[in-house]
Amino acid sequence: MPGTTSKLDIHPLHDSFAVEIKGIDLSTPPTDAVFDEIRDALHEYGVVIIRNANFPDDKAQIDFSALFGEVEKSKWRNPHMRSLPHPEIFDISNLDEKDQVVTNSNEKRTTAIRGNALWHADGSFNPRRTYVSLLRAVELPPAAMGGHTEYADARQAYDDLPEETKSKIKNLVAVHSFVHNRKTANPDSPLFKDINVLDQPLARHKLVPVHEPSGRDMLYVTSYAHHIEGMDLEEGKNLIQELQSHAAQMKYVFEHHWENAGDIAIWDNTAVLHRATSGSYEGKFRRDMRRTCVMDSSSEAYGLNNPDAAKDQANSS
Ligand SMILES: [Fe+2]
Repeated sequence: MPGTTSKLDIHPLHDSFAVEIKGIDLSTPPTDAVFDEIRDALHEYGVVIIRNANFPDDKAQIDFSALFGEVEKSKWRNPHMRSLPHPEIFDISNLDEKDQVVTNSNEKRTTAIRGNALWHADGSFNPRRTYVSLLRAVELPPAAMGGHTEYADARQAYDDLPEETKSKIKNLVAVHSFVHNRKTANPDSPLFKDINVLDQPLARHKLVPVHEPSGRDMLYVTSYAHHIEGMDLEEGKNLIQELQSHAAQMKYVFEHHWENAGDIAIWDNTAVLHRATSGSYEGKFRRDMRRTCVMDSSSEAYGLNNPDAAKDQANSS
């Protein structure tokens, strides 16, 4: 049970995963003991919410993230986004390069926003996967205007599958593509319409990788997963869709409602899936969210990809 072995004030947010840790102030770095307990909670519950964590700036967010491992840097900055000074900070805001609220006419931004609204794990399209993501609210729209983040317990979803299904899928490999997500989310967009996914960079990851810190298997059925290796294309797509629908059932989903500037959400992409949700604030109110990502260092990090291929990867989106 949460809190029985921990000194931290841990509160469950869902029956099987996701917790809030209360009373943690990250305006100064945590002690080793406190950080170890945060990481243990993350490994056990997949999602950790800390309200009013209050990182004073981007650098503090990066430094805290680095306690989990190697922080990803974006190698390419979208010219339609703000130029934030640290390459480790991924801009998840609805603000454009002039610091103005993005409107629907900004195709390059809205297609990305729609892509993030599909169930995914950050960076699954890369040869080396993403482990931890940390999202920080810097500026939020008025309450009750949407913009929640949803999480699905992909370990519990796997556990609950019939044994027959488990043995059928256990050793399968999914082939992931960044463009596949964008095409699915934006079927009519001229930006992706004529691109053949199979001509794009592809990454191979197990459909059921083990989450090493807990020893539990997870359903790595992200919306970047395009097909199953060695399986008829349509059959593989259908299987991915079927498993994703299974993992996204309401009973496995926790919806996080952002409350205050200063709140953070930390999730383990090797244990849970997530997606952004839309809201009535879009096109009207500022929503400044900043994310850091940490590379996976587990034995599943590179999937079945050549580690050399990870040197030039584009990193998370
Ligand atoms: Fe994401």
